[in-house]
Amino acid sequence: MVERLTHQDVNDICALYRRVWEGFRTDLPDQLIKAWEPTPLEFTSWMEGVTYFAARRDGKMIGAIGCRIENGSCRLVHLAVDPETRRQGVATALVGATTEWARHNTTSMIWVDALAKFTAAAAVFRQLGFAESGVLHKHYWGEDVRLLEKIL
Ligand SMILES: CC(C)(COP(=O)(O)OP(=O)(O)OC[C@H]1O[C@@H](n2cnc3c(N)ncnc32)[C@H](O)[C@@H]1OP(=O)(O)O)[C@@H](O)C(=O)NCCC(=O)NCCS
Repeated sequence: MVERLTHQDVNDICALYRRVWEGFRTDLPDQLIKAWEPTPLEFTSWMEGVTYFAARRDGKMIGAIGCRIENGSCRLVHLAVDPETRRQGVATALVGATTEWARHNTTSMIWVDALAKFTAAAAVFRQLGFAESGVLHKHYWGEDVRLLEKIL
């Protein structure tokens, strides 16, 4: 079940991000992990200007994504799925919800930046019809970032 995130979900989403990034501690710069593991207070400020959706199963939060609509386009941020529930269509459902939201808000395109080493993320977006439009080199603490976009 995918629903809009509310302020009551803040602790759950922070716990989800901790579970997700725990597995990347040895592969990613410390600054990046720190930036992607917000405290509840930090996450509350992330919610300003960003609409988040969360996927739950049996009450447990298993995935989340944010979308920021600006200048007539929609940027996806902070997509993450619980390591225990991957390859079950959770990210597909979350991106689907944000795409609907983007269309509802009459945006003309939707885009995302993902670390180049996140091959699973690129596979999800390609599968959903996104095209790779470029690479930003050493963009996040020395990590290359892939840009993917879809015209709506
Ligand atoms: C990337 C991520 C969000 C994918 O979530 P998910 O719920 O497992 O993705 P889905 O089940 O919706 O996958 C849809 C399709 O994408 C492709 N895909 C997903 N994960 C893949 C993988 N590890 N390898 C190859 N293809 C993959 C497949 O085609 C898959 O369909 P299939 O399972 O029927 O073959 C998840 O792996 C994750 O949280 N990774 C760490 C954080 C991250 O990379 N976030 C993205 C930042 S932009």
